[in-house]
Amino acid sequence: MNSLIYLDHAATSWPKPPEVMTAMQQAMNEAAANPGRGSHSMAVKASRVLFETRVVLAKLFHVKNANDIIFTSNTTIALNMAIKGVLQPGDHVIATMIEHNSVRRPLEYLKRTHGITVDYVKVNANGEMDVAEMKLALNRPTRLVVCSHSSNLLGSIIPVAEIGRLAHERGALFLVDAAQSAGIIDIDVNKMNIDMLAFPGHKGLLGPQGTGGLYIAPHVDLEPLIHGGTGSQSEEKEQPTVRPDRYEAGTPNTPGIAGLHAGVDKVRKLTPAAIYAQEWALTQQAIDGLRDIPNLRLLGPKIGMPRSGIVSFVMNDVDSAEVAFRLDREYGIAVRAGMHCTPLAHYAVLTDKSGAVRASVGVDTTEHEVEALVKAMNALYRT
Ligand code: ALA
Repeated sequence: MNSLIYLDHAATSWPKPPEVMTAMQQAMNEAAANPGRGSHSMAVKASRVLFETRVVLAKLFHVKNANDIIFTSNTTIALNMAIKGVLQPGDHVIATMIEHNSVRRPLEYLKRTHGITVDYVKVNANGEMDVAEMKLALNRPTRLVVCSHSSNLLGSIIPVAEIGRLAHERGALFLVDAAQSAGIIDIDVNKMNIDMLAFPGHKGLLGPQGTGGLYIAPHVDLEPLIHGGTGSQSEEKEQPTVRPDRYEAGTPNTPGIAGLHAGVDKVRKLTPAAIYAQEWALTQQAIDGLRDIPNLRLLGPKIGMPRSGIVSFVMNDVDSAEVAFRLDREYGIAVRAGMHCTPLAHYAVLTDKSGAVRASVGVDTTEHEVEALVKAMNALYRT
């Protein structure tokens, strides 16, 4: 279908499955009313689109009550809701050096405006975290531990189940940023001790852009970030107390959520475990093909180690933007270059000046496409 070799799935997955597009079109034709704002049959149909999508997401993440899943327009909004909804002036927070700016910036904002304190736990030169470092940080009374499940720069995977257990032992809440793991790594919010899970709809879950969500455990009472109409308890001047309405003010993205449902169905059919195995094999192929290129330094876990579908690298003396530009223009290969919105991870692997080139695979990426990247890099830089 496409001559473009798309290796930028960590930014957004593409192409979307045909069933996602069909579901969106069907929602716009048949369920295009405003959900929760009327009792006519098309409004009820629209409400059903939302509810059924919540149910499949709840199954995917092992959430007991689907109404604990809140739709947002992306992971960034979900993380802002969680962080700003839970923290009080003076609270202490622990995050890690692999956090995306979607975590770091709200935390730094609250540091400046609300006097919270933040520790960023170190990662090693491969982007992996030593749990002992987290234990050490937890010696201080802590309100919230927030961790990216997998680095969007390095692909390294954080042992969230263990960190969640440690956080709970110390009475802290545990928030996981699943931007790079939802749909790709099995997530069980109970087994992993997760109190809040922020996830994108448009990456590993194969849905359209403008979709995402936040799981909020029943015992966590967040202050809503956004206030406004919900179609429920309209006589009240405050937000409704019931979920999901409390956290979903304004007209939702019903067609997008219908598409997300179809994406989640595909992921559940394939299973995250099988998707992970396939993407891992492709990353190993890429590492193996790139590692002998002179002046190329691979980032992230060593070959054979766990990682999500991301392979990043730097070329000595060649700007990462130039590498990405040449891959695009001369070989039709789409990768991302630059700072990847995660400056502390770049400090950890000494690429804060150079930036990095990131190739990321998805559910339909083929060995042939990875081979094309390897061949193009060899042709460009093996002189
Ligand atoms: N956070 C996404 C990325 O890493 C957009 O590319």
